[in-house]
Amino acid sequence: MTDRYAVIGYPIGHSKSPMIHRLFAEQTQQDLSYEAILVDTDDSSFQWAIADFKNQGYKGINITVPYKLDAFETADQLTERAQTAHAVNTYIFNEDGTITGDNTDGIGLINDIELNGDRLFKNQKVLILGAGGAVQGILGPLIDKLPATIHIANRTAHRADVLGKRFITDIPISASGWEDIPAQHYDIIINGTSASLEGKLPPVSAEVIGENSLVYDMMYGQKPTVFMDWAHQAQPNCQTMDGLGMLVGQAAEAFYLWRGVRPETAPVIQTVREQMQQS
Ligand code: ATR
Repeated sequence: MTDRYAVIGYPIGHSKSPMIHRLFAEQTQQDLSYEAILVDTDDSSFQWAIADFKNQGYKGINITVPYKLDAFETADQLTERAQTAHAVNTYIFNEDGTITGDNTDGIGLINDIELNGDRLFKNQKVLILGAGGAVQGILGPLIDKLPATIHIANRTAHRADVLGKRFITDIPISASGWEDIPAQHYDIIINGTSASLEGKLPPVSAEVIGENSLVYDMMYGQKPTVFMDWAHQAQPNCQTMDGLGMLVGQAAEAFYLWRGVRPETAPVIQTVREQMQQS
């Protein structure tokens, strides 16, 4: 029998996850189905909706906006990275009826930079812009890669400070508002603010970008994001990446949890990008 998986959210219509998982299944020759399902909690509670998926025999589901916190609260067991992210995007429905909640967003981004961007985090100076849910999810997996330093800058400096202090690690983590970012070139700069959604830039001095920096925007679109354009204007030779690879990367890690095989992300990123450009 074909194993069933799905992504749930509200809205869900434009989800690329069914396409991504279909491509993974083809690549790894796995027999599975993957649907995008709208869950409206005005109709029933999140817990009931999940019980329904379990009863229907689904093997696992992905959870997206706005249910990542509900998913965190409803899981029977949480992985360490789900705990540090305080959010869950992947459920594994275990044979014994329990639900394991994991978070693959952070490792999806880290793997995208290391594997597809060809940049290892080890000993790198990392600058992170933003301190919301998206950034919270990447700090744990980032620390595991042993960067030299991490600086978190945010519009609300206090939020960056609180977030940085949550992690007990030997890696120096500092925090500030936009104006107080230590003036230096950073090796890897990650934009995790939602400013790009509105086509805006976080007001950061372009002096943080060096010739060899990798500048990553967690957002993506048909064209390079405003943040990537800004980076290129400041340093034409710097490397830029958008967040499409993070989307595919988090899916790849979920696929691995469910199927035990890790698909290659690069060809899938390319296919999804071509599809986006045609539509
Ligand atoms: P997400 O889950 O996408 O991270 P979030 O938790 O609401 O959403 O966090 C949004 C992040 O983008 C925060 O870091 C926010 O800054 P504040 O903590 O000061 O609110 C940042 N952000 C949102 N809009 C922004 C803007 N126009 N300029 C700069 N930063 C912005």
